[in-house]
Amino acid sequence: MDKLVIEGGRRLEGTVTISGAKNACLPILAATLLSDEKSVIRNIPSLRDIATMLKILKNFGARVVQDGDVITVEPKGYTKYTAPYDLVSTMRASICVLGPLLAKQKKAEVSFPGGCIIGPRPIDIHLKGLSALNAKLKVERGYIIADGSKMRGSHIYLGGHFGSSVLATANIMMAATLIKGVTTIENAACEPEVMDLAAFLVKMGAKIKDYGSHRIIVEGVKKLHGADHSVIPDRIEAGTYMIASAITKGDVTLKNAKLEHLIAVEDKLSEAGIDIKKVPNGIRVRGARRLKPIDVTTLPYPGFPTDMQAQVMSLMTVTDGISVITEKIYPERFIHISEMNRMGANIILEGANAIVKGVKALSGAPVMASDLRASAALVLAGLVAKDRTDVHRIYHLDRGYEKIEEKLTKLGAKVWREKDK
Ligand code: EPU
Repeated sequence: MDKLVIEGGRRLEGTVTISGAKNACLPILAATLLSDEKSVIRNIPSLRDIATMLKILKNFGARVVQDGDVITVEPKGYTKYTAPYDLVSTMRASICVLGPLLAKQKKAEVSFPGGCIIGPRPIDIHLKGLSALNAKLKVERGYIIADGSKMRGSHIYLGGHFGSSVLATANIMMAATLIKGVTTIENAACEPEVMDLAAFLVKMGAKIKDYGSHRIIVEGVKKLHGADHSVIPDRIEAGTYMIASAITKGDVTLKNAKLEHLIAVEDKLSEAGIDIKKVPNGIRVRGARRLKPIDVTTLPYPGFPTDMQAQVMSLMTVTDGISVITEKIYPERFIHISEMNRMGANIILEGANAIVKGVKALSGAPVMASDLRASAALVLAGLVAKDRTDVHRIYHLDRGYEKIEEKLTKLGAKVWREKDK
């Protein structure tokens, strides 16, 4: 396994190009299974999670051709409907093949994804939604075994203990495109990635109204065709580079980033004193000499994203004063705290609230995190820390950040990849 080594203390400057959104690509690639025809998906980042989804599609019998950031999927004649444990266990997002398989093949067997390091992550909302569409579901041998032969449209409340669910909304919306009748999804997630999936489905011929709101209406059609689609830029990658600029008091322009997808992040970072401006085809972020502490609560979109919680915490570790960061989506998503404290941060966890007392400086250390965003946050901390930080197990970073060391190096950071012992 590789590690990333960072020698901190360099100001970042210049332009970084933001890649396509991982969390939009994954359900969109799954949605290609709804048609027999060829679909072309553009602006796909080169990431481990994408490679896993392509393996799953190939495993079903779809033909997949990759040419740079363009992927062509031709599912014609695929007959398999099992997503096995060895693929699903490496990526929870594999669950989003359940809806397309049920709609198209009328049956599906998908390994139960189980918990992960950021918390228990149940799939009850997915199952509740599919049951409401009259799918017959059972769990056997660790697999969800589903029969969709009698599915029909329905009125569904798709909420759970922590509000709406992104991938459950994706799953139900995809399932509803090809079944008889009208489906109304109440409390639907309205994240930009859900909207991008809906836009792709509409290009395939699906009848979907009001996506982007908390009530999505889908009228089933008999058949979907292939489509050509370019995915939206990754708002979480963009947010991470916004903080890379802020934490190094830098001046970075994020090419392709959409500020309208980052309203809550813009709001909070501006409150901290960071200068954020929309520029043609991107966002310019300039750090301030002195930052102010901020209180942040993660919420479903358009609230502050949980996928940016760890990164904003890195910034607050070196900001004078006390910040409180409250996690309302994954109350256990705090594995980065102990690693940040090893670098000299002063963070206490009380329930789902992290109390961050800003320190003058962080000092480099060997660190490790078993979660994608936590790993990114440690890289950010490494950029501002004195001396050398070794971020071990960057397997997780490679799941979600395309060419991170190349992009940071281009901005002036001293960062490189090494083989870990
Ligand atoms: N939840 C349930 N039951 C369910 C589904 C979700 O209780 O059946 C809970 C979750 O445990 C959580 C909340 O509902 O407390 C919201 O989870 P959601 O279902 O929205 O998460 P997800 O769809 O599984 C996607 C992203 C995550 C991101 C969350 C929240 C993808 C592939 N993943 O996951 O991204 O954190 O939405 O925005 O889209 C990441 O990229 O690092 C990542 C973890």
